[in-house]
Amino acid sequence: MDRRRSGNALPIASRAPRRAVRHLSGARAMTPSSSVQAALGPQWLEPLLLREGDVDIWVALVAHAPDASLAAQFDSVLTADERIRHGKFFFDKDRRRYLVTRSLVRYVLSRYIPIAPPDWRFEATEFGRPAIANVHPDVPGLTFNISHSDSVVLLGVTRDAQLGIDVEDLQRRVPLDVADGYFAADEVRQLRALPPALQPARFLDFWTLKESYIKARGKGLSIPLDQFAFDLSDGAPVTVTFDPRLGDTPERWSFWQWRPSAESLAALCVENKRGITARISVRRAVPFVSEQTVGFKVLRGSGFCKTL
Ligand SMILES: CC(C)(COP(=O)(O)OP(=O)(O)OC[C@H]1O[C@@H](n2cnc3c(N)ncnc32)[C@H](O)[C@@H]1OP(=O)(O)O)[C@@H](O)C(=O)NCCC(=O)NCCS
Repeated sequence: MDRRRSGNALPIASRAPRRAVRHLSGARAMTPSSSVQAALGPQWLEPLLLREGDVDIWVALVAHAPDASLAAQFDSVLTADERIRHGKFFFDKDRRRYLVTRSLVRYVLSRYIPIAPPDWRFEATEFGRPAIANVHPDVPGLTFNISHSDSVVLLGVTRDAQLGIDVEDLQRRVPLDVADGYFAADEVRQLRALPPALQPARFLDFWTLKESYIKARGKGLSIPLDQFAFDLSDGAPVTVTFDPRLGDTPERWSFWQWRPSAESLAALCVENKRGITARISVRRAVPFVSEQTVGFKVLRGSGFCKTL
C-alpha cells in the first residue's frame, strides 16, 4: 500500500493515529510539531510525502467553504498583507475566493512540510509567480502553481519539476476574437473550422492548455501566445509545437485536461523528468475541514501518467 495516500480518510475527525509514515522508497514523511498539528486542525492528520514524479492536485470549490470555517481561517491564517489585499476586493465573491485560495495554499503546503500554515512566506518572481520564500531544508524542490475561476480554486504541487495549472468556468463568456488576435495561426484554423456552436468549448480547450504552459514556464503573458501551438485533433493525443524563438521542445512537457467539477475545465502542464512517470492524484478539500481523494478522469492528454 502506498502510505503517502493513507492520510485521506475524511472528514478530518477520522484521521489516522499519530505515527511517522514510512514511505515505499524508505524515506519518511516529516512529523509535524504539535503547534503545526494544532494549526492544521483539531485532529492528527498523517503528513503527506511528495516523491519526485508525484503531482498532487488540490481542488477547492469556493461555494463549499462554510462561512464559519472561512471566518476562522481569516483569523488564523492570513498575514497582515493578505488581510489588506482581502479588504480591497469590491465583490464579496472575490473576497471569498481569495480567502479560499490563501487558506488552501497554506493548508496544503503544511500537509507536506512541518511549517505551520500562517508561517509560510512567499515571494514573487519578476513575472509575478509566487514561490516559497522560507524553503524547508528537507524539501528544497517543492514547486506549486495556483489557478482560480469564480467557482474553483486549483493548486498543483510537485517537486524538482516545473508545473503550470489553469482552470476556467465553462459558463464564462468566451472572447473568441482573442483567438484571432493572439493564438497561433494553426490553432485559429482548427478553431474556426468547427461549427460556430462548438467553437466556445474548443476555445477554452486551447486557452487552458496555453495558460498551463505559460504558467509552467513562469513567465505568464510575456510568452507570445502565437509562438506555440497545440493540435487538438479528435481522438489523438495532444501535441504541441514551438516556434524556435521560444527555445523549447515538446519532449520537455506533458499536458492533461480534465474537469475538476461539472462547471469547470482545467489543464495541467508538467515538466518531464527522464525515466520518471508522473503519478497524478486529485483531492477535493475544504481547507482545515475535509479532504477526499477523487478520480483524475483525463479528457485528453499528451503523455502517459499513473493516476490514483
Ligand atoms: C499568470 C497569468 C497567466 C494568470 O492568469 P489568470 O488566468 O488571470 O489567473 P489564474 O487564476 O489562472 O492564475 C493566477 C495565479 O497564477 C499565479 N501566477 C501569477 N503569475 C504567474 C506566473 N508568471 N507564472 C505562473 N503562475 C503565476 C499566481 O499564484 C496567481 O494566483 P494568486 O495571485 O492568487 O497567487 C497572467 O499572466 C495573466 O494575467 N493572464 C491573463 C489571462 C489571459 O489573457 N490569458 C490568455 C490565455 S490564452
